[in-house]
Amino acid sequence: MTAQDFILKSYNTNIEKGTVKWSSPSNIALVKYWGKKEHQIPENPSISFTLSNCKTITELTYTKKEGNDFSFDVYFEGKMNEAFKPKIQTFFERIEQYMPFLRDYHFKIDTENTFPHSSGIASSASGMSALALCLMSVEEELGGDYSNDYFNKKASFLARLGSGSACRSIEGELVVWGANESTESSDLFGIPFDGQVHENFKNYQDTILLVDKGEKQVSSTVGHKLMYGHPFAQLRFSQAHDNLAKLKTVLASGDLETFVKIVESEALTLHAMMMTSMPYFILMKPNTLDIINRIWKYREEHKSNVCFTLDAGANVHLLYPESEQTAIHEFIETDLAKYCQNEHFIHDFAGKGAQLIKN
Ligand code: DP6
Repeated sequence: MTAQDFILKSYNTNIEKGTVKWSSPSNIALVKYWGKKEHQIPENPSISFTLSNCKTITELTYTKKEGNDFSFDVYFEGKMNEAFKPKIQTFFERIEQYMPFLRDYHFKIDTENTFPHSSGIASSASGMSALALCLMSVEEELGGDYSNDYFNKKASFLARLGSGSACRSIEGELVVWGANESTESSDLFGIPFDGQVHENFKNYQDTILLVDKGEKQVSSTVGHKLMYGHPFAQLRFSQAHDNLAKLKTVLASGDLETFVKIVESEALTLHAMMMTSMPYFILMKPNTLDIINRIWKYREEHKSNVCFTLDAGANVHLLYPESEQTAIHEFIETDLAKYCQNEHFIHDFAGKGAQLIKN
């Protein structure tokens, strides 16, 4: 498929008003997306677990209007929010060629997250995917008659233009984004991982340890730019291809030991890229390192398969098989909670993706 396949050619201009509503989850990358080309095209493929509990719920009301400008209001948790507007304006500008009706309507975007706003959990993946899905539902109301497959692909395609990782939040439980030799995926949208998945990886658990609930020190847009001219960039991009190929084998065989190695190495490589860019950043906090060391000690002592991954921040995602849930919850409460801000952590697990609430 090419971008041309996502251009809406004609639509019903008589629909005056309507409301749609979606919930869409966050996701956690196992092989990381870090570095992009123009038009939100990733430099390397990535794969993630779609989450379940950490999600955005967005209601979109559209009303026919006069004039040819973009017109929208954003409400976050019931209150008008100006801070979100520039990102949504950019999103509309990027996607209008695929959705020509955007200038025909005024949109009221009413959005909320299930996770606390100041938790350090990025809401761009869940937020942008929820909005993209709402817009797809509007497109359907205006006459688009789509297969489920096309609907999801275009939603992912649009979400990518809002925030790269958002394209991996439409479906679950594992989603691949970025052209590669190991799967059928594309640079334009994410698709559910099409390889075999061993039972060990079903219902995989993710507890997010909130080490730092502050604003991100480096926005991902700035972060991705650090890969331009980065001395290790090309090597890193090809490593991501290798890691995805290895992970495909591991997901089929259920080899948890190798899974742990790939996932932790990916997380540390992401941070190594930030530490070796110009300007350079250290996004881990002392408590991040304490948690990592505790995990390694626990794994050694208990022959456990728990491991960590990180996003572009200090919070730690603890990943573990469902079979270890009871033991790891106890480990978190007795050993890890004290490293979290206000002892705050969120239990989550791999899920099936976004859900339509109202059409
Ligand atoms: C470290 O998707 O937030 O979480 O495309 O600029 O919106 P933009 O970036 P974003 O980058 C996420 C990077 C990451 C790794 C990942 O999720 O793969």
